[in-house]
Amino acid sequence: MKAGRKVTPTVIVIYGGTGDLTKRKLIPAFYNLYIDGWMPDKFAIIGLGRSGLSDDEYKEHLHNGLVEFSRNGTPASERWEQFNKAISYFQSDINDPAAYEQLVSKLEAFDKQWGVRANRLFYLSIAPQFIEAATMNISKYKLAKDPALDRIVIEKPFGYNKQTAVELNQLLVRTFQEEQIYRIDHYLGKETVQNILAFRFANALFEPLWNRNYIDYIQITVAEQVGVEDRGSYYEHSGALRDMIQNHLLQVLCMIAMEPPISFEAEEIRNRKVDVMRAIRRLRQEEVHKYAVRGQYGSGWIGGKKVPGYREEHGVDPHSNTETYAAVQLYIDNWRWQGVPFYVRTGKRMQEKTSSITIQFRPVPHSTFSQSQAGNLMPNRLTINIQPQMDIRLRFTTKKTGLDMSLNPAEMVFNYDKCSTQTPEAYETLLLDAMRGDATLFMRSDQVEEAWDVITPILEAWESRDSLDFPNYASGAWGPESAEALIARQGHIWALNLHT
Ligand code: BG6
Repeated sequence: MKAGRKVTPTVIVIYGGTGDLTKRKLIPAFYNLYIDGWMPDKFAIIGLGRSGLSDDEYKEHLHNGLVEFSRNGTPASERWEQFNKAISYFQSDINDPAAYEQLVSKLEAFDKQWGVRANRLFYLSIAPQFIEAATMNISKYKLAKDPALDRIVIEKPFGYNKQTAVELNQLLVRTFQEEQIYRIDHYLGKETVQNILAFRFANALFEPLWNRNYIDYIQITVAEQVGVEDRGSYYEHSGALRDMIQNHLLQVLCMIAMEPPISFEAEEIRNRKVDVMRAIRRLRQEEVHKYAVRGQYGSGWIGGKKVPGYREEHGVDPHSNTETYAAVQLYIDNWRWQGVPFYVRTGKRMQEKTSSITIQFRPVPHSTFSQSQAGNLMPNRLTINIQPQMDIRLRFTTKKTGLDMSLNPAEMVFNYDKCSTQTPEAYETLLLDAMRGDATLFMRSDQVEEAWDVITPILEAWESRDSLDFPNYASGAWGPESAEALIARQGHIWALNLHT
């Protein structure tokens, strides 16, 4: 997030080097940073994994990932050849002492060759049960002993509930300094999400209105068309609340609701965000049914194709009680937001893939216009479309051209497509920040724990009682009907369903 700071020599060690994330996201991100001139002049990427692969086989595997997943498509062969010289594969077991001794020599060899102690970035893209062994060994073999140069990036899931998240944080701080720990939430790296800070705090226009006096309610939607794909066995133990709301949606909510930071320093921004988390009203278990709705997709139609229900997916229990949809009505107990509902919802197999934030302003206090003139008078609305559509839209009312006085909604639009530069992927931003030592867009331990605290009553209420109506929405719908009822009680509707 910092502007133009050149990264000093860096060695990146990826635990889970043969995994899906490395192939889909990490290597395409490093490669795109490389071709755009952001990688340090001297860098190395070491992929760790258990499979027996030669360096060449490993590089071919990663190349296939680039072809399939990189925003720049198939890499130009001479650039790929230059880039892949920095990549090597190291077959190793997370628990094997001999592997760590070899890793020590490898890392020291780079320092010697480059004549400088390089930054070290350990990227843990591994299942939670392996994190303890990996971090203990990184510490035992003193691989990350310089807090100014060495960093650990941890992928979600960060814990399974509040207690396991606290335990994981305790484990990490026993081994590393907090400033070395980068808990990643890829939503925070999305261009459109980062832009919320610029939009709110680099304009004088909106901030005076950004409170309970002018805002009626806020909606945050992350709708996906995909189902659980091949992640059924992971998802069965997760569900939409853990998989999306505990992290991505609550992080976005913090960006929308936080107080203006006094500077753009990582700690300041993270303090302001954690203030929001702490102020979110905790539900009592017995009132969860009033404020939260869960759903599970049945079979249906997506893009003209018949798709199976969640219970028919690979790795899923045919009687599964796991939610693939969650909608929650939250309140923030502070001066700015008292009484303003924040509706957050996410679901798989929804009608459209769309992530967006709706800020609904209050209606005008008094209508100057007669009923026939004001037929189309709608309250102002600001929509921040995160993906795939990327824009900011402000709806306001104008006079309809003609001899009558009649009102009509109009829109002012900022559209990213009109910007000349290509939008970087979230992982590009976040990996560059981690290499530069800028933790602004990463989650601090207290944020993660507070986020778990917010969803704990809902998790517990849902886990204690099976949902009797699952599956309760068809693939290709907008979620269960109960989600409409949830917000209809306050006289509201979900903004996107009707494209209003
Ligand atoms: C991940 C979740 O964190 O985010 C997935 O585990 C989800 O289930 C994904 O599909 C969504 O990310 P994006 O960037 O495609 O919106």
